[in-house]
Amino acid sequence: MKQSSENWGSRVGLILAMAGNAVGLGNFLRFPVQAVQNGGGTFIIPYLVCFLVMGIPLLWIEWSIGRLGGRFGHHATPFMMARLSKAKYWKYIGVFGIFTNIAVAAYYCYIESWTLAYVFHSIGQTFAPLSQTEVALFFDRYVDYAATTTGIPYEAVVFYILCLLLNTWILSKGLSGGIEKVAKIGMPLLLIFGAFLAIKGLTLGTSAAPAGCADCNGYLGLNFLWEPQFSSLLDPQVWMAAAGQIFFTLSVGMGTIHCYAAFLRSNDDVALNALSAGWVNGFVEIVLGASILIPISVGYLGLDWVVENASFAMGFKTMPFLFAQWGPLMGTLAGVAWFGLLFFAGITSSLAMGTPWISFLQDEFQWKRVNAAWSFGLILLIVGLPTVFFYQQGVFAEYDYWAGTLSLVLFALAETILFVWVFGMHKAWKEINHGAEIRIPNLYKPILKFVTPTLLLVIFVSSLIMPVNNDWRAAWQGDWVFDNESVIGKLKNQQFVANREYFSSVFESETEGQV
Ligand code: PHE
Ligand code: NA
Repeated sequence: MKQSSENWGSRVGLILAMAGNAVGLGNFLRFPVQAVQNGGGTFIIPYLVCFLVMGIPLLWIEWSIGRLGGRFGHHATPFMMARLSKAKYWKYIGVFGIFTNIAVAAYYCYIESWTLAYVFHSIGQTFAPLSQTEVALFFDRYVDYAATTTGIPYEAVVFYILCLLLNTWILSKGLSGGIEKVAKIGMPLLLIFGAFLAIKGLTLGTSAAPAGCADCNGYLGLNFLWEPQFSSLLDPQVWMAAAGQIFFTLSVGMGTIHCYAAFLRSNDDVALNALSAGWVNGFVEIVLGASILIPISVGYLGLDWVVENASFAMGFKTMPFLFAQWGPLMGTLAGVAWFGLLFFAGITSSLAMGTPWISFLQDEFQWKRVNAAWSFGLILLIVGLPTVFFYQQGVFAEYDYWAGTLSLVLFALAETILFVWVFGMHKAWKEINHGAEIRIPNLYKPILKFVTPTLLLVIFVSSLIMPVNNDWRAAWQGDWVFDNESVIGKLKNQQFVANREYFSSVFESETEGQV
């Protein structure tokens, strides 16, 4: 094994890169939509609780495992995990921390490539003359290969490849020469763009309301997101959604944090750095993320419309039309700010997903960084093209379930058990506090040992048996139907198809009340 001499160039660079890793499309597209779909203010309390008892502990665990691994020259999770226990199988569990990244990066880069395309279309004024329906149609055509005469969504493919090339090129420049530079440029720009749009969102009020629209008021949108409602505390649906969002937004359960932390020096602080990166992400999410998409669209389209239509695609299907209402100059600026912000948020995250694979090849097989980076780009192309061609056939959702949901939680559960129970709480606590620039309250000892793993176990089991439409509310009330996406749903379906003819009576009695 080769002892890597690479380190982060500066503390500012480290924090920006780690914050860039966490701050992503999740903060600006996923969070507002999740919040709206889960009752707005009702979402906030479970979200904060999950952040405190699951998010922060996982950040500390991952930063610590990473720094510890780096001490031994490991920058990817398989050998890091092998260092914490004598049992051989941990190494193989650690493999998740490489491959999940590749699967998630494949579809994540696809969305990232949309943002790039939309920056160009904003500059080129594509959306200015279009009606709201036409802007939405533009997106549908963009992702649908059937809609093009050649049968290839060529624009989507071109931008996807462009996006992969960009990622590969930056990754081939390494840590301080590539990732850190992009974070140092991208993160401040993202904050400036975000602040500009948030001010627009916060001051829109009723100024954009079309005649006769009573609930077209930006403040209503803000209020909806912020007014806490304690009734949600008993709703399992909201809790699951909040936990899922915390996972995704903090980038935990993937191996990216371990990898970045492995490039720390062995006496560098993790306790405070991990917290800072977590809080930056939280700020960008609940302050900036909540002040743009929802308030602006509520200002024009009304709260009812937004609650009914909130979706990930809204950022592409609706926003360009609304920006165009601000006139040519402001509209263009806003379009570039919004899609530029999404692009920087995206690329600083997808770069993080590339590093575990690249470091693994460098550490264990002595690959050159450039070759390792290109291999990553090539694999993404192969793994990712199905999501480009079959976006509307649900390939995307399939990747998101297996890689973006199930495997994250499984990995996080495994690493928590390994670090806190196998490696041992005493050593774990010492490791987290080694070099610490803050004093972590002792209360976090029992949280790390019991609360975090229990919560993770509950979430893991729940994602295995996920009910249809992820509707936990109905499931809780006894109206239980498994989602076809879930593992159980898949098994049931296959079993159903295979056995329908012969064992239908057996099958029916077995699954009574479920199907
Ligand atoms: N945290 C990123 C976001 O909010 C997504 C991500 C997940 C990035 C896992 C890296 C690893 O969009
Ligand atoms: Na995030």
